[in-house]
Order: sequence, then C-alpha cells, then structure tokens
Amino acid sequence: MIRDATARREKLVWEAKGQSDFVSEVDKASERAIGAIIGRRLPDAPVLGEELSQTVIAGEGTVVIADPLDGTTNFLHGYPEYSVSIAIAHNGALRAGVVLNVARDEEFTARRGGGAFLNGKPIRVSSLRVPGRSLIGTGFPFKTLEKLPEYLAQFSLVTRGTAGIRRAGSAALDLSNVACGRFDAFWELVLAPWDVAAGMLMVQEAGGIVTDLDGNPGQVTAESFVAGNPAMHAWLLQTVRRANMSRGKTE
Ligand code: IPD
Ligand code: CA
Ligand code: CA
Repeated sequence: MIRDATARREKLVWEAKGQSDFVSEVDKASERAIGAIIGRRLPDAPVLGEELSQTVIAGEGTVVIADPLDGTTNFLHGYPEYSVSIAIAHNGALRAGVVLNVARDEEFTARRGGGAFLNGKPIRVSSLRVPGRSLIGTGFPFKTLEKLPEYLAQFSLVTRGTAGIRRAGSAALDLSNVACGRFDAFWELVLAPWDVAAGMLMVQEAGGIVTDLDGNPGQVTAESFVAGNPAMHAWLLQTVRRANMSRGKTE
C-alpha cells in the first residue's frame, strides 16, 4: 500500500503534529491496514500504534506495537529509507518482530529464541571491535531540540573515534541494520516504543545488545537507546556517557 502511494507522493497532504513532525494519509491508512490484519489473526490483541492508537497500554497479555510508516519525512521526499515496523509482546516481553524496508523490499524478521533473518536468511551483528574502523548509525533529536547540545557533544566524540556516522532517518531500519552488521552500533536520545520494538528484538536475536544511555537493559519504554555488537555497544555507551560527563564539568 505504501509502495503504491509513492507514485502520488507529491500530491499527498501532510499534517504537522509538532516541530518537524509530519503525518500523511498514508501513515494512517497503513495503521488501519495493520489493525485490520491483526483484528482477523489476533482478535484479542490491542494494537499500540503511532498514529491512531497511542493511548493503548502495553500491559499483560498480547499486544501489537506498530509504526505504520517509520521514516515519514523520507517517504514524503522520496528518499528511499522508510519502513513498516510491527512487534508482538506478551506479558511485557517482546516475542516477534518484522521491519520491512519498503523501497528496497528487504524484510527483517525475528522471533524470541529463534534468531533474526533478512529475506529469510539468518543475520548476525558485525564482529568488528576496532572503533576507528566502525560505522555508527544515529538519529538527531530534531523533535526535542533542548537535547541538541547534549547530542552534539556526543556526536563530536563519536565522530572523532570512528570511521563515520550515518543518519538515515528510520530508527526501525537503523536497528535492523545493526542486526545484519551494516552498522556496528547505533544511538539515539529520544525514541518511542513503536520506533524500536521490532528492531530491538532483531538486534538481540542477531547477537547484539540494546540498553538505554544509563546501560539498563533495553525496554521499549526507555527514551534513549544504544545498540550494537557487544564490543561496539560497550564502546559507544562509554563514549556517549563520557561526552555527558565532560559537558557536566564545563557547565
Ligand atoms: C522517526 C524516525 C527517525 C527518528 C525519529 C522518529 P517517524 O519516526 O524513526 O529516524 O529519528 O525520532 O520519530 O516519525 O518517521 O515515524
Ligand atoms: Ca517512527
Ligand atoms: Ca511513524
């Protein structure tokens, strides 16, 4: 459905939800389509979705956590990095996830205890351990600009220590790209459960680690996220925390 809509992308109406935060009829139609499919297959499971059902509480039982279009700004501009992200949690624990890169037709899947896959083939996080050779994914805090000074200090330190940083524009794909070893690690300061639920399971099932910026094991409700292969996760977590500490000393 999203793919079909790319042809009439320039005619779509965007609504602004907040600072640099847009939603189109395609985001909403995609969430309705997800709701209809889940309604048929898992009629008792509520859907926690970004556009139409944010107020659903992910508590006991089975809940579906969905971002109907992750990377809306990319989609609206025809920049080919946007996805659909759907995860299933049971009693608070992630059980399965899927992230579809719509433009590239790449489907990432993971099942708790069953591994992670790209178009059906098993994937693993990278084995790279040398920060100076690493490629790091990130997202900017463009909706919460008060976080920008903290983020820029981290960005500066990570840039100095690595081969490069990429800001691609879909957190679900960033995490999936960690899972398949394209990125060695990833961090972002402000994300929502629907951005991360499926991608987080993808990283874990591919042998990687996900925590918040304090190093607590990843919960979908955390605000900040650091993910990576075990060695690069440790390095990135230490580096962003070091940036925060040195900022604290100079303020
Ligand atoms: C956004 C993307 C982006 C991230 C933002 C998210 P949306 O999701 O995942 O990479 O930096 O924080 O909100 O709004 O395109 O679904
Ligand atoms: Ca999103
Ligand atoms: Ca979205």
